[in-house]
Amino acid sequence: MSNFAEKKPHAVLTPYPLQGHINPMLKLAKLLHLRGFYITFVNTEYNHKRLLKSMGPIPFDGFTDFRFETVPDGSTSHGDDVSQDFQSLRELIRTNFIDSFRELLAKLHDSSKSGLIPPVTCLVSDSFMSVTIQVAEELALPIVLLIPSSACSFLSALHLRTLIEKGVIPLKDESYLTNGYLETKVDRIPGLRNFRLKDFLTCIRTTNPNDSLIEFLIEVVDRFHRASAIVFNTFNELESDVMNVLYSMFPSLYTIGPFVSFLNQSPQNHLASLDSSLWKEDTECLAWLESKEPGSIVYVNFGSTTVMSVEKLLEFAWGLANSKKPFLWIIRPDLVIGGSVIFSSAFVNEISDRGLIASWCPQEKVLNHPSIGGFLTHCGWNSTIESICAGVPMLCWPFFADQPTNCRYICNKWEIGIEIDTNVKREEVEMLVNELMVGEKGRRMRQKTNELKKKAEEDTRPEGGSYMNLDKVIKEVLLKQN
Ligand code: UDX
Repeated sequence: MSNFAEKKPHAVLTPYPLQGHINPMLKLAKLLHLRGFYITFVNTEYNHKRLLKSMGPIPFDGFTDFRFETVPDGSTSHGDDVSQDFQSLRELIRTNFIDSFRELLAKLHDSSKSGLIPPVTCLVSDSFMSVTIQVAEELALPIVLLIPSSACSFLSALHLRTLIEKGVIPLKDESYLTNGYLETKVDRIPGLRNFRLKDFLTCIRTTNPNDSLIEFLIEVVDRFHRASAIVFNTFNELESDVMNVLYSMFPSLYTIGPFVSFLNQSPQNHLASLDSSLWKEDTECLAWLESKEPGSIVYVNFGSTTVMSVEKLLEFAWGLANSKKPFLWIIRPDLVIGGSVIFSSAFVNEISDRGLIASWCPQEKVLNHPSIGGFLTHCGWNSTIESICAGVPMLCWPFFADQPTNCRYICNKWEIGIEIDTNVKREEVEMLVNELMVGEKGRRMRQKTNELKKKAEEDTRPEGGSYMNLDKVIKEVLLKQN
């Protein structure tokens, strides 16, 4: 090891093993690396194999002072590259992960004694991986938790226990899912104004008093106060109301995003080629976009975990076709419940001159392409923040987890999106696509998204709020000796 490396602080980062969590963690890893940290990034074996496969010839392990380690993922039954089952991952984290993580840190400790790597000086974990706090405490290391979702959905998660205590959840029976109960306004939750039950995390839509997801989330939330700091991939300008409430609840909270905006503005981002796609990216769509008019293309992508029935997919398909607007639609191989879809020749003929379908794409590059005029999204937080940073307004079809909360903020608070009904119909898609792309409301939304984009850029420049917060987290938390 060089003397230079010896002096480096060494951060071990553990994302939750899903695409929407790995991406922001890798970006944070890059930011820390740019600030002089030695990085160990911990993937599950299954995900690491997928990353190597999708990254192709890029020398994944060949970056200076940036290395990958793996932990077993407890299952040998994974087949092809598919979205992973949230419930089994949760069980894995609960049961197997912590021992593997302890072993890994012991191994890193041995390597540092041999002078191969610098000693581990701090941990950075996804909030869903907060079990790592236990290890941080054992080793007296500072630990930062990354919230990969919005601050507004984080705040709503903090109130799960309140909803149970007030008897609001679990639902009395299944009829409460459809009888208008979810429209009920939830009063007296500071920071969440005009919030309805349907805007909360979708885990509340349960009749089970021992729902394992709710139990998992409450366990996670209960550990938060033991973290050295909690950081958000958001910016203060965007979620200041919510952050002000959160600052009064936790002593050490920081908005340090959007990471996308940070990295876009980094003059010497030598890790730019290091990507974290679990699916192989189709880059031909970028060439296709090159031939299109500025602002003309509707980009459609439902992220890495959304699934839908073939009936719903066909409503989207015909809505897009009937809108007559050109579109790029990413249909993941496991998007449709029960298998892939074969489109009729009528549909294929209809869209042949203006529609392109691919299975996975480099989303940030797509969103930043000048031809993109709007984004039909499931409102995953990464997609939301990436769309804001690209100045692209949205059509929102939230699917689960924090997405309805994000959708509420996108459409009602920031006014940069329009919601599509859960029970999607082609006529609505057709109308809203036109509104988004050429309507007056679409124009206003585009303007507002561009204003937010500028604010995100300001916040992530030297002297900006997120920039200074990142400095603080580094100096006052990650570099602090316990
Ligand atoms: C999930 C949740 O939905 C989200 O709300 C939560 O906050 C994080 O985990 P996911 O459903 O996959 O993630 O959505 P999203 O948060 O948008 O993350 C998807 C990521 O994959 C984005 O960074 C996006 O750029 C990337 N992506 C998606 C691609 O690179 N290519 C694609 O074709 C699709």
